[in-house]
Amino acid sequence: MKGSGWVVHLHTPLAAIEARMTAEELARRPVWTEQSTSSLKACYDERLNRYNQAHCNVDGARAPEAIVSELVWRFQSKNVEERIQRLGILPVICPPNVESAVPLAAALCDGGLSAIEITLRVPWSLEAIRRIRNAFPEMIVGAGTVLAPAQVDKALEAGAQFLVSPGLDAEVVALCRKREAPIVPGCANASEMTQACRMGLSLLKFFPAQVLGGSSALRLYHGPFAECRFLPTGGIQPEHLQGYLELPYVAACGGSFCAKSSDIQAGDWTKIVASCRKCATIVASARATSDPSPMDVRKP
Ligand code: 3PG
Repeated sequence: MKGSGWVVHLHTPLAAIEARMTAEELARRPVWTEQSTSSLKACYDERLNRYNQAHCNVDGARAPEAIVSELVWRFQSKNVEERIQRLGILPVICPPNVESAVPLAAALCDGGLSAIEITLRVPWSLEAIRRIRNAFPEMIVGAGTVLAPAQVDKALEAGAQFLVSPGLDAEVVALCRKREAPIVPGCANASEMTQACRMGLSLLKFFPAQVLGGSSALRLYHGPFAECRFLPTGGIQPEHLQGYLELPYVAACGGSFCAKSSDIQAGDWTKIVASCRKCATIVASARATSDPSPMDVRKP
């Protein structure tokens, strides 16, 4: 098997840990599901096969660094996608001050939503990400409103495990790809989705979801973009969750609906915990009535 001789130099932006491992060891990491890792590995074995044929290499050759890097990027991206998908909701927060970051994260975790996207819209956003990562290593923390490449490294240095953009910017995606950092770009139409797919992205933010036709629009986009997973965001309220989450190709809904800025301002953590629990209950009920199709992996 072509993959068995790979030595993967895994640089994970998640925790700045470096490890050397084979592709098999990488695939055995428990955080990834059997299905996605085997599908991904099949993709890369095929790709390495093609490379080896083209270059007359022999079995056991080291995978070219570019292929390994892409493998790692896709694993990292799939990992983030699956973690967000399990929760069904990605709270999107612009913290009113840096002091609110940790108690807010505690409230989200208490409410069953151990994920957060901190938007880079205020000067203390990076510090908020840093504090949440330190206080809650089990949470998955992303940086949102990434509009320019210059923000990518700052967000990763602060500890962001993934990045979210309101739109699709080729330079931002290319830099994330280079850093092996998952990116969820905003796509508002079929042209942008086409471009995102061609960039190798599988999880797309559908933004602003509520004004673009909501779940009805996603049902139509699923025709040509059957292999995409969506993170609808923008204007979503708890009563919209069911309609989105019963679609198996909706990984999660993003938004501020589970932690209102007025409640964060007021430090009303009890209210936020209750709101998150209510949303988590809606996710569970939507998922119970939907087709629980496994998360497929797009072919590169
Ligand atoms: C955003 O990027 O602002 C998110 O879409 C949050 O939107 P919401 O506040 O409408 O949920």
